[in-house]
Amino acid sequence: MAEPFHLLHFSTLTSTSDWAREQLDQLADHTVVVADVQTGGRGRKGRGWHSELGGLYFTWVFRSPLPIGQQPHYAQVAALAIAHWLEKEGVVPELKWPNDLLVNGAKISGILLDAVGDGEARRLLLGIGLNVSNRPQVVDYPTTSLKEVTGKSYSTAAVLKELLEQLRTSFQLLEEAGMRPFAKQLSRFNHLVGKEQKLLVGEKLICGVVEGINEEGALLFRSSDGELRVVWSGELIL
Ligand code: BTN
Repeated sequence: MAEPFHLLHFSTLTSTSDWAREQLDQLADHTVVVADVQTGGRGRKGRGWHSELGGLYFTWVFRSPLPIGQQPHYAQVAALAIAHWLEKEGVVPELKWPNDLLVNGAKISGILLDAVGDGEARRLLLGIGLNVSNRPQVVDYPTTSLKEVTGKSYSTAAVLKELLEQLRTSFQLLEEAGMRPFAKQLSRFNHLVGKEQKLLVGEKLICGVVEGINEEGALLFRSSDGELRVVWSGELIL
């Protein structure tokens, strides 16, 4: 993880993650594909990601020494790394399990982790979108931007540089020590504890209350029938 990043910068791409996937054989590890605009930005669960000028959109390609079952932790740890960086900027970030970042209840950043290939050839593509000076108009949920919450202007290139360093430091810790060092932060940034929420697991919508996040990053969710569920994959509906 100590190797330098290779930045590939484009003014427009359909999606940095899709482009990285298509060109993967040509890309060295730690290539970071950046675009000023994405015309077909992808979000989680098959959704789109509004990607107009003013936002930061990038995909980092790397190999992981972690067992496959632990690799989803990169997305959660990336959310924590961004939360830390936001805190340094004086912002109070909120983590919506598993890895959405909100400020004042509005989404500011999203993370998409893809994996391509098997065995030695397996590579991870970590895609991150951050609303820097753009505030996308999304119908399903409120959005905000760094500019809106800090009142300051940022260069996307400078934000990228700082975020990559924060991500690298956090990933090193994850690879050395697992999720345990992050457990406290997962709870500290989680603003949904004790709140009634709707949880989507597959096609099923469950009502209940968030009780916390366990040390491995799973959601502890008390459904309205009283059962405590340990949820590894799903989505809280904003
Ligand atoms: C989400 O919250 O649904 C995840 C959004 C991820 C968006 C980023 S922007 C850079 C990279 N390229 C994409 O097409 N998607 C990710």
